[in-house]
Amino acid sequence: MNHPETILSVEKISVSLQGRPILDNINFDLAKAEFCGLIGANGSGKTTLLRTILGFQPHTHGTINIDHRPNTNTLKSVGYVPQKIQLEKDLPLRARDLIGLGWDGHRLGLPWPSRKKSILVDEMLHAVNAEAFADQRVGDLSGGQQQRILIAHALIHRPKLLLLDEPLANLDIRAVAETVALLNRVRIDFGVAILISAHDMNPLLGVVDKIIYLANGRAAYGRTNEVVRTTVLSELYGYHIDVIRVHGRVLVIAGGHTDENAIPHDHHQDHVEAIP
Ligand SMILES: Nc1ncnc2c1ncn2[C@@H]1O[C@H](COP(=O)(O)OP(=O)(O)OP(=O)(O)O)[C@@H](O)[C@H]1O
Ligand SMILES: [Mg+2]
Repeated sequence: MNHPETILSVEKISVSLQGRPILDNINFDLAKAEFCGLIGANGSGKTTLLRTILGFQPHTHGTINIDHRPNTNTLKSVGYVPQKIQLEKDLPLRARDLIGLGWDGHRLGLPWPSRKKSILVDEMLHAVNAEAFADQRVGDLSGGQQQRILIAHALIHRPKLLLLDEPLANLDIRAVAETVALLNRVRIDFGVAILISAHDMNPLLGVVDKIIYLANGRAAYGRTNEVVRTTVLSELYGYHIDVIRVHGRVLVIAGGHTDENAIPHDHHQDHVEAIP
């Protein structure tokens, strides 16, 4: 856990919301430049876990360290792309202005030379390949273009850890592939550790080193092939799960079918991870 390359360490974390246990004894860690997928169905606690790591959500038990310090005052080491950011059509902000806000946000009141900021913004526009639409209003950009600007916004202060909450939701297949490739590139170029939540792990299979799979408030953590297995996921869900690999994709299905009535019907839908 105290390996010098460890950027994020989550130990025995439990979280309750309004008296209801949501996360129970979650353990994992992330090393420098590691890429980790946080996978789970709707309501499994992905956003809650990310907000807890950021210190926005208190935990009842456990310890979280970011870059070897408690997560209470480490926001500058973390970049965050929250779930469901709605950029208003008429927002009078260009793409480059939004990226610049990621810099100012950490330096409010300090007289940073605007030239320095503008150089950093240009660097980030280049890093996310967004120079072509740098001067367009953010509200006019496509979902994939907006996602690239939000990633640049989160990266401009050079965090050691980047948390992204379902950045691939609502993107088409091509934009999903482009965003995943972009994240993998910035992971290498910036040496940043990435934790990305998703309900479908398939677009991430080619890039992630590890997976945290959430279900029933608990987590299975490890390399994809160690976690995404019938035995591990059946234990996690508490009923039989089939893991099927087909054409390089993984399907996670509430299976068994020996006793249909034992599996709540909606779980059949919830846990199907991959339908092309
Ligand atoms: N402020 C809150 N008060 C009480 N319960 C909450 C609160 N926020 C979330 N929850 C509950 O906590 C559980 C986990 O929610 P969370 O938003 O973390 O899940 P998620 O995995 O991010 O889901 P999604 O895929 O839909 O984004 C859900 O059952 C949700 O209803
Ligand atoms: Mg969520």
